[in-house]
Amino acid sequence: MKPKRKLKKEVIYVFAGLVAILVIGILGFNFYNDYTYKQTNEYKLLEKGYSKEDANIIEKNLKEETIQKILSEEKNDAIPAIIQEKYYLEKNFDKYVAFQKENTEKSTYDIVAMVNTKANLDWYEDIKEVDTSQKDLILVNKFNQLKEDYSPENLVEVSNWYCYGTNQITQETYDAFINLYNAAMEKDIKIIINSSYRNYQNQEETYNQLKNTYGSKKADDQAARPGHSEHETGLAIDVFTPGNTTTENFKDSEAYKWLKENAQNYGFIERYPEGKEYLTGYHFESWHWRYVGIEVAKQIHDEQITYDEYYAYYIEK
Ligand code: DAL
Ligand code: ZN
Repeated sequence: MKPKRKLKKEVIYVFAGLVAILVIGILGFNFYNDYTYKQTNEYKLLEKGYSKEDANIIEKNLKEETIQKILSEEKNDAIPAIIQEKYYLEKNFDKYVAFQKENTEKSTYDIVAMVNTKANLDWYEDIKEVDTSQKDLILVNKFNQLKEDYSPENLVEVSNWYCYGTNQITQETYDAFINLYNAAMEKDIKIIINSSYRNYQNQEETYNQLKNTYGSKKADDQAARPGHSEHETGLAIDVFTPGNTTTENFKDSEAYKWLKENAQNYGFIERYPEGKEYLTGYHFESWHWRYVGIEVAKQIHDEQITYDEYYAYYIEK
């Protein structure tokens, strides 16, 4: 009888020991899990006050370095919305955040678009030389300047059939324009080139004339300073239609309506659209069309963006 009881007691001890090990194991495991979770970015973001959904967006879309920046600052409700903007570029993260803090009334679309295109800066600040290797896709604007001696490679003379006065554009622009002209004519719409290539000196004269007449604010709103005009590329045309007596009333013409709906199919985009003045830096110019090639023109038309935005997001990155 005695050894049997002893055995029973030993079994109980072993059992109790196993239970204790199990309990300690479970507690330890939970503690370890808890500790590891607290080291994660998700936990830290939740602690900062971000929702689980926002924490996911931040974790999924950003580099570790950017996440650490977010964690080192106060919670900012605009961050998840900025990250989800279609044209968000991570390289501009700090600039978006800084610009948004100063402009809380602006939409996150505008924050991203303005920073991408540098429209958050003063016009003509931080000027770079135009990357002419982009050929038909080169960007010339208030932040990208052509050299004084820049001359497009393949300028050709435009026949008087298609223009007023003497005009030159690049061969590609000309070929595309003839297709556009013919397509518009099929609808009894006549689109004529009014002004096109201007060299640096011509542009300087155009700008100075406006400046002397209206002052520099109005001149800057309507004309590019020398080196900053698309007209210096041979890829831009100002158009006209019979019955359209001033450039300003071109916007009310059937020709403008037709161009808005069809120009992209021939490789042209509206370069200074209404409502986008804050991005392009110029007042609405219904008459100014830019050749970029059919594929890019269609994309820009579909996405309803300016060329400045397209270039920043798809070319320059
Ligand atoms: N009017 C346009 C902006 C130019 O001068 O190039
Ligand atoms: Zn123009």
